[in-house]
Amino acid sequence: MMLTGKSLIAGVIGCPVTHSLSPRLHGFWLQYYGIDGIYIPLEVAPEHLGHIIAALPKMHFRGVNITVPHKENVMHYVDYVDPVARHIGAVNTIIVEKDGSLTGKNTDSYGFIQNIKANLPPSWSFEGKKAVILGAGGAARAVIAGLIEEKMSGIILLNRTKDKAEQIAEHFGHTMQADDWDKRHDILAEADILVNTTVLGMEGQSMLDLRLDALKPTSLVTDIVYKPLMTPLLDAAKKRGNPVVDGLGMLLFQAEKGFELWYGKKPEVTEALRQFVLEGLDKRIKE
Ligand code: ATR
Repeated sequence: MMLTGKSLIAGVIGCPVTHSLSPRLHGFWLQYYGIDGIYIPLEVAPEHLGHIIAALPKMHFRGVNITVPHKENVMHYVDYVDPVARHIGAVNTIIVEKDGSLTGKNTDSYGFIQNIKANLPPSWSFEGKKAVILGAGGAARAVIAGLIEEKMSGIILLNRTKDKAEQIAEHFGHTMQADDWDKRHDILAEADILVNTTVLGMEGQSMLDLRLDALKPTSLVTDIVYKPLMTPLLDAAKKRGNPVVDGLGMLLFQAEKGFELWYGKKPEVTEALRQFVLEGLDKRIKE
């Protein structure tokens, strides 16, 4: 795509940022829709984050995505954090408003929920169902915010470090309870939805040690890990006949809102996009 003096500029700020798939993802949409715009990776060290964020309006950026390790800290440097992002305690998308002020949003919970909805029949609903969530990091907070918004009747959160699960349960309120990591095998009997938000099962990490025997055959299993795409958890769940949804779609769907706000076009998550991003993921794994 030829750039011009009017090209709309956005990007992703992280440290490191070389492995981010977002430039590939947004680059696909920019080209597909013929938009005069660019999306660039920006590696910014934590000590420079405040200066760089403050410079965005001066450089006429439309906005940026924020990734590890800046998602929490960046909240100090924007003018307004919207209620969803405040509730989750992290910002992954910044919009430079017309008056130059900065709005921080979080689109991860939207991405998580949309990914499931896109992969299940329209009649399927979260309402009144119960979830078991493994892990209590930033990703778990986004997942929980999304599930509560969808009116699930209960959420059980298990984490190796139980304190963190308890803090999250207290923050999100009465639909939630924290329990012991050691109970993870048996507690699956209560799950209509099982979500892994830990790093376990990711390439280079240990396996998730989880017996699925107690899980109902109809329960949905999803993993936010997407490398490998078919994690050992998803593989085991699929083999016993449970519906499964992989984690790549969460990355694709969380990107929709930023793209629309920066470039003025609501993009579509298509199979072609998914394949293009997957090729990038394969190349990245081989590097
Ligand atoms: P993110 O913000 O992306 O969710 P994170 O904050 O690093 O990532 O969270 C990683 C999650 O994986 C945590 O819930 C972590 O458990 P702890 O809070 O006890 O650290 C979990 N995790 C990492 N290694 C683990 C292991 N070997 N066994 C169980 N849980 C593990």
